[in-house]
Amino acid sequence: MELKTHISVKNLSIWYGEHQALNNVTIDIPDKKITAIIGPSGCGKTTLLKSFNRLIDLQDGVKVSGQVLVDGEDIYHPKVEVTHLRKKMGLLSQRPQVLPMSIYENVAYGLRIHGIKDKKKLDEVIQHYLKESSLWEEVKNRLHSSASKLSIGQQQRLCLARGLAVEPEVILGDEPTSALDPLSAERIEQRLLELKNQYTIVLVTHILRQAKRLADYIIFLYLGNLIEHGPAEEILKNPKYLKTKSYLEGQFIEEPKIDKELNLKGTVCPDNFVKAKLALEDLKLGQILKIIVDYEPAVSEVPKAMEYEGHKILEVKRLNFTDWEIIIQKRNNTYLI
Ligand SMILES: Nc1ncnc2c1ncn2[C@@H]1O[C@H](COP(=O)(O)OP(=O)(O)OP(=O)(O)O)[C@@H](O)[C@H]1O
Ligand SMILES: [Mg+2]
Repeated sequence: MELKTHISVKNLSIWYGEHQALNNVTIDIPDKKITAIIGPSGCGKTTLLKSFNRLIDLQDGVKVSGQVLVDGEDIYHPKVEVTHLRKKMGLLSQRPQVLPMSIYENVAYGLRIHGIKDKKKLDEVIQHYLKESSLWEEVKNRLHSSASKLSIGQQQRLCLARGLAVEPEVILGDEPTSALDPLSAERIEQRLLELKNQYTIVLVTHILRQAKRLADYIIFLYLGNLIEHGPAEEILKNPKYLKTKSYLEGQFIEEPKIDKELNLKGTVCPDNFVKAKLALEDLKLGQILKIIVDYEPAVSEVPKAMEYEGHKILEVKRLNFTDWEIIIQKRNNTYLI
């Protein structure tokens, strides 16, 4: 089944001052599925997530290049209304941030944005969203007491209710369960699973088991680079690249030690894989060749040809707008083509 894309990220790079936090990320995020962004601390997960509702460019010294399309619209276009965009994107942060007012008012806040003022209607809708976030039973008798008196887990569910009340299309969660006890975390997870029928959900997590439980799609980032993405089952059971495999197995992620480097820019197929093949012939088993290509079909064709020859593709990484790096480990001494 063809998946509908909700958020499309094209060649996105983000800098904090001099520090580049994301490097040429290109990815499509499917509609009404849960996509998990995983990767070690500092790899750019929060940065990527915050680029979707433009919370990122609130900060001074942040530079964004590339595009993020939401429903086909470039959200970094100067004409885009940021408040309108933010209404589409509900955000659940790591620590719940309730507003310093009553439980009732926290949810009403979102509804008033939509112009609902009628008291009876407000009561009804507030009840609805508190039920949607599995909080109603616990708070129905103290709706007018202060939200900050709730437990952290309850506060996070209140934030979910407040977020849903704004009627977003997308729910962005930045490790939304990390400050919660296991039972509260499970309740949030359960709700997210039920809500994915109505919303596109993008979730940053560094709990692999959570990604396994929730994700339909996985994005694996490492040092600002998109290493691998695809259906969760595939990534978790059968990761394509070495870095993904090391991360999933809890091993230290090492940069492969390159034994030979070859610049194949300006070379098309099949010239480029013949050249790569010849370069591999000079290497010993287990040694590693890095090639740089700038011909887009080569990005899938060269790895295919090398795998056919029995070699192992360790990584395919986009370097910039035009260039890719393909890292190949020599695994075979007999030559097929
Ligand atoms: N406001 C900032 N100013 C400068 N550098 C920043 C800023 N925010 C993030 N960074 C840097 O950008 C990189 C990516 O940060 P980001 O917060 O996106 O990582 P992360 O994957 O969410 O990490 P964690 O798992 O620890 O939350 C890191 O090297 C971080 O130090
Ligand atoms: Mg983060």
